[in-house]
Amino acid sequence: MVGNWKMHGRIKENAALLTEVAAWASALQNDVHVGVCVPCPYLAQSQALLSESVVRWGIQDVSAHTHGAYTGEVAAEMAADFGVTYVIVGHSERRAYHRESPELVAEKARRALDARLTPIVCVGETLEQRELGSPERVIAEQLDAVLDAMTAEQVASIVIAYEPVWAIGTGKSATAEQAQDVHAFVRSKLAKTGAAADVVPVLYGGSVKPENAQELFAQQDIDGGLIGGASLKSKDFLAICQAAQTVLQ
Ligand code: 13P
Repeated sequence: MVGNWKMHGRIKENAALLTEVAAWASALQNDVHVGVCVPCPYLAQSQALLSESVVRWGIQDVSAHTHGAYTGEVAAEMAADFGVTYVIVGHSERRAYHRESPELVAEKARRALDARLTPIVCVGETLEQRELGSPERVIAEQLDAVLDAMTAEQVASIVIAYEPVWAIGTGKSATAEQAQDVHAFVRSKLAKTGAAADVVPVLYGGSVKPENAQELFAQQDIDGGLIGGASLKSKDFLAICQAAQTVLQ
């Protein structure tokens, strides 16, 4: 269960949130792993407050380069210096606002792996793309670029997040059935790479709330969640993680 803070947080309020998450996460059972992907300026704070806890921390994007004249970019190795575990790549907000191509997203995922970090590769269709036909075509294009650029061994080290663009921040989640259909498709694509498809966690993201979490996570191919707005409220994030714990029992 990974929180994506997006561009939210300030040093004072983060301290309370991170401390609370660290406290309740240790009581979770059934192999529920908890992470938070914070804005880069708060990496040192996350490291200081989380390193004694079970909660891992991460970043929300990374450069496709290792170093050089790329003003404003952050290299995977720089994040690694702050004890980072997760690197979100290809979030739909970056694909849309920063025109990131599937090939660029694949490069970023590889840079994360090179730095021994775990890329969380986001894929998902817009409402228009869904209404034009099946979302699978769009997902396949986004996913193939990443899977084709990796060995089976590398594929086994990534995380995938299915986030339908129309469900992000809208309060309107995909139904459990809609999500499961796409997750099963993602799993079939993974199986074709020769990697053990079962070892790659496939997360669902898009308006996950305490009220819908259990139904979503009960689906066979939904292994966890990438949580936006609700991860900023300790109580909601905890309730979502508890829902996952219940379903795994
Ligand atoms: P919301 O949970 O706010 O819909 O955001 C989902 C998301 O984009 C997580 O990466």
